[in-house]
Formats: sequence, structure tokens, C-alpha cells
Amino acid sequence: MKLFVYHTPEQTPTAQVPDCAIVIDVLRATTTIATALNAGAEAVQAFSNIEQLLEVSEQWAPDKRLRAGERGGAPVAGCDMGNSPLDCTPEKVKGRRLFISTTNGTRALQRVQSAPIVLAAALVNRQATVKYLLTNQPETVWLVGSGWEGTYSLEDTVCAGAIAHSLLAQASYTEDELVGNDEVIGALSLYHRWQNQLLEMFHQASHGKRLLRLDGHDDLKYCAQTDVLHILPIQQEPGVLGIEN
Ligand code: MLT
Repeated sequence: MKLFVYHTPEQTPTAQVPDCAIVIDVLRATTTIATALNAGAEAVQAFSNIEQLLEVSEQWAPDKRLRAGERGGAPVAGCDMGNSPLDCTPEKVKGRRLFISTTNGTRALQRVQSAPIVLAAALVNRQATVKYLLTNQPETVWLVGSGWEGTYSLEDTVCAGAIAHSLLAQASYTEDELVGNDEVIGALSLYHRWQNQLLEMFHQASHGKRLLRLDGHDDLKYCAQTDVLHILPIQQEPGVLGIEN
């Protein structure tokens, strides 16, 4: 297995696809997607474009759908909710399809949707992601950070490092065998720096600060938890994620 880290959808190569693409948006899209599926959502359908989300979801009965829209960290008018994982309670999402569009995370998912395997990872489901990789042994794995509007996000790289660290701890690979690009080494170093201070790391990160200005302290606390959800969102058809069995 060779791991490659790309910090943003824009930096992700377009000329080829990996065996497995793992999209990371710790704050907050992939945390929200994992939480919604864990709470019993029928599936999560991701859109980069909000108008398209409204058009497609309109074809679903109101009691079978939930529309989540976020831009700049804030909820989008016309949607049922923003992008807070804390809104994904079983009472709200069970049996419904979550239609979601966010500033960066859903764009990152779209960027790699032609890969044969597409997963959504965050700190909350890091171990479920690692377990999948250890069981299925894809040859090339891309860890794609969502970043912020084309720029790097500290928390996504730390999560990529958390996945690489855990793979190295649980498999017999040497670092040399696993590492596919320099970004993986950077991600590992960042994870080692912040692994016991993940919430503090969010407080240093630009998007963490943005969410704090929007009163998102509880979201940050939730997203900083590691290995608490034992499910893995996997793409079932382009743009639609369900639970990996
Ligand atoms: C994104 O896609 O950029 C986000 O998940 C932003 C957020 O809602 O925190």
C-alpha cells in the first residue's frame, strides 16, 4: 500500500485515480456525514452546488429528505440545517436521505468521485478507516484534505497523519514502504505534534477560529474526538454515500 496526501481538491491530480480515495473534512463535512449515517440516515448525497441540491432533493418526499447547506461556516437559507454534526440526531435523520452541500468538503468528494473506492474520514471514525484499509489492502490510497477555498487546512492534514500513524502502528509496513509523497511525512509530524491537543489545535486553525466566531465551540469539541464512531461512509454511486458493511 502507498499513501499519498493532497491538501486540497485543487492540488489533487486529475490525470489518474487511485484505488481508494479518502476525503477528509474534519471541520466539519466528513464528521457530519459519518455522524448522520451513524444516526440512521438512509444515505448521504453530496453536492458542490446548492441549486442542484435543492432541485434533486425536491423529487423526494419531505419526510424522507433533509437538506443541509453551509457556506462560510453558516447555514444556507432554504435548507433544513447547516453543517453541524450535532444536528444529526436519530430523531432528525433516521430513515431520511441527507442532501448536503458545503463550502469545501462536498467539492472534495466530487473531485475524486470517479475513483473505484471513495471513503469519507474524520477523526471521529479514524479507526474504522484504518480497519478498512488493513482488511482491503488497496494499492494506492489518496488522502484528500478539503482545505478552505483552495488553501491548506491544518486539521485535515492532522487527520491524514492520524490515519497514517495508526496504519503504521497496526500493520507491518515500514514508513518507507507506506509513504508515497512528502506530504505524508509532514502529516505524520503534525499529528505527532498535536495528537494529545486536538481541540487546542482547532483553536489555532483558521477554520476553527471561524467556527468559534460563529459560536461553534460544541462542534469543535465533538469533531476533536477520535475513534468514537465505528462506521465508515463509502460511495455507493457517484455522490451518494452509505455505510460500508
Ligand atoms: C466545508 O465544507 O468547508 C465545511 O465542512 C465547513 C463547515 O461547515 O465547517
